[in-house]
Amino acid sequence: MSVTWALPFKEKIIPELGKERTVDPEEYRRIHQESLKDIEAFWSNVARELEWFKPWDKVLVADPQPPFYKWFVGGKLNASYLALDRHVKGGRKNKVAIIWEGEPVDQNGNPLEVRKLTYYDLWREVNRLAYVLKNKFGLKKGDTIGIYLPMIPELPIAMLAAARLGVIFTVVFSGFTAQALADRLNDAEAKLVITADGGYRRGRVIRLKDIVDKALEQSPTVKNVIVYRRVGLNDVNMVKGRDYWWHELMSDVPMNTYVEPEPVESEHPLYILYTSGTTGKPKGIVHDTGGYMVLLHATMKWVFDAREDDIHFCTADIGWVTGHSYIVFGPLLEGMTTIMYEGAPDYPNPDRWWAIVERYGATILYTSPTGIRTLMRFGDDWVKKHDLSTIRLMHSVGEPINPEAWRWLWKLAGREKVPFGSTWWMTETGGILISHAPGLALVPLKPGTNGPPLPGVDADVVDDNGNPVQPGQRGYLVIKRPWPGMLLTIWKDPDRYVKTYWSKFPGMFYAGDYAVKDEDGYLWILGRADEVIKVAGHRLGTYELESALIQHPAVAEAAVVGVPDQVKGEVPVAYVVLRQGYQPSEQLKAELNNKVRELVGPIATLSNIFFVTKLPKTRSGKIMRRLVKAVVTGQPLGDVTTLEDEASVEEVKRAYEEFK
Ligand code: WTA
Repeated sequence: MSVTWALPFKEKIIPELGKERTVDPEEYRRIHQESLKDIEAFWSNVARELEWFKPWDKVLVADPQPPFYKWFVGGKLNASYLALDRHVKGGRKNKVAIIWEGEPVDQNGNPLEVRKLTYYDLWREVNRLAYVLKNKFGLKKGDTIGIYLPMIPELPIAMLAAARLGVIFTVVFSGFTAQALADRLNDAEAKLVITADGGYRRGRVIRLKDIVDKALEQSPTVKNVIVYRRVGLNDVNMVKGRDYWWHELMSDVPMNTYVEPEPVESEHPLYILYTSGTTGKPKGIVHDTGGYMVLLHATMKWVFDAREDDIHFCTADIGWVTGHSYIVFGPLLEGMTTIMYEGAPDYPNPDRWWAIVERYGATILYTSPTGIRTLMRFGDDWVKKHDLSTIRLMHSVGEPINPEAWRWLWKLAGREKVPFGSTWWMTETGGILISHAPGLALVPLKPGTNGPPLPGVDADVVDDNGNPVQPGQRGYLVIKRPWPGMLLTIWKDPDRYVKTYWSKFPGMFYAGDYAVKDEDGYLWILGRADEVIKVAGHRLGTYELESALIQHPAVAEAAVVGVPDQVKGEVPVAYVVLRQGYQPSEQLKAELNNKVRELVGPIATLSNIFFVTKLPKTRSGKIMRRLVKAVVTGQPLGDVTTLEDEASVEEVKRAYEEFK
């Protein structure tokens, strides 16, 4: 694999607002190398800045053996305590912790609902809910619960209440279907679910409790449901003895209720978050408490340059890891004010995010390439209408950012002055690992790059044999040493953990991404090297979509691949072989798409379905998605020696050409 990538390596921009922290790449390399000399000493210096109930005995332990790493072993802490109690006691009691804006607007486009919760407010609500979970439902450390809530303050309240008790929570994105929810609740063996009657999305009401009811038909471990009244639906089905209204449960819990935060071991799981892989059902990524807190603290300082008066606006949904780390835990850990917006960026108009920035004076903007590209299509005027001069720092996340989108946002929202990077990380890494670090030592920006690895992070690009590639050569992104915040394992499936991440290159964490390193040591993550696709920043396994398709009686076989898309980065297309007796038709296409939406969720919508009589396969009968992908993306086919029938490739090609 020796493809050379002509990325725009040369251009270097020194942002005006980060100037005092800017260093040249050589200097940064020295800082980085210094940090790697003794990663245990390096990370324990960061960890010491947090408050521990009990200090650790050992910084890093492989238990029972690599790659099962545990950080800060012997140490005890509590995430809810760090995010709340510390600030309530330490002078931030009346500081706003969360600014929440609901989606619905009046005729003038102004929000109908805004809630501002101080640290004290949030602390009290978290204590009261923790009391309910503990005393009314008997939940205790090590139990698991599911959280299926829209983007309302009760979502972080639920997360923090669980964390307070050492109860492991799994947040399920509120756009997921009953089937996807049931799969996750079952795998996590959740005892209870916290949900709402409904949520708003682009002016529509999504009836969440109905979805929970359907999921619970197949989720026997769930004994109780707490329902928050968000929308005020008056025909909500409440099962006696199983379902309880949040407000009723809380009505007799005094405002000043205090629940002692449970001191948990550093390696105690804080949460499980499900994410797509290449095969099988979504994997439950398990995060610890201590290492995760340490990585969030470090990245809030280095990447976001967290300051006391910051208003932090991360546009993600808390249903994904970005929201867990950089709407909830990261900003609250630092005692910052974090903005939560409930709805769609283009509702009622494509300037909603800019209106929010202006309304609350956001200083930090953390957003996604798909978000930027979507809003870019509506033109500059929607942005120019608003005063965005409070923004002093921006980053993007989720997928590679194209230089055009980078430039557009940098000019319009960043006034060609502010540090603006593309932070690389994944659900598994817990927090940002590769990024510009304006709060520490900023190297000049280059549109589209991810920048160098953060201190303490040993990232590299290697070839098929695990050897580092030359600058400019494409290879696989790996992390060569453990880092705090890394996943502990895959829930109930340690073998899969080892196999997925630590087997391709023994001793190195395989991220599944292609990357290039340039001469300055900056990394450019190019996209997935496996059968995972990123649609509008959401991670989908092509395998999940294929499994959904073959559940339709008409489908004999299916291959799904991602193709480039101007806005969403990538979109899935399917090649389908029909069973005898079924004919291709537009109606069948619609049915198949419905099947996928129903089983996986609306984010999985196929952008096209092609009917073929056979798929390219190896002689041993495995579908060669790589070839399908090469055809639809116009890439060379590469090695075809194992291909059984060349005509199949021709057919895939023809189907695609006809469509174009
Ligand atoms: C991709 C999201 C390029 C990458 C936090 C990774 C990126 C996957 C970037 C993880 C970026 C994330 N530039 N690619 N700045 N950030 N990715 O688990 O392919 O939803 O492996 O975590 O997103 O997706 P996940």
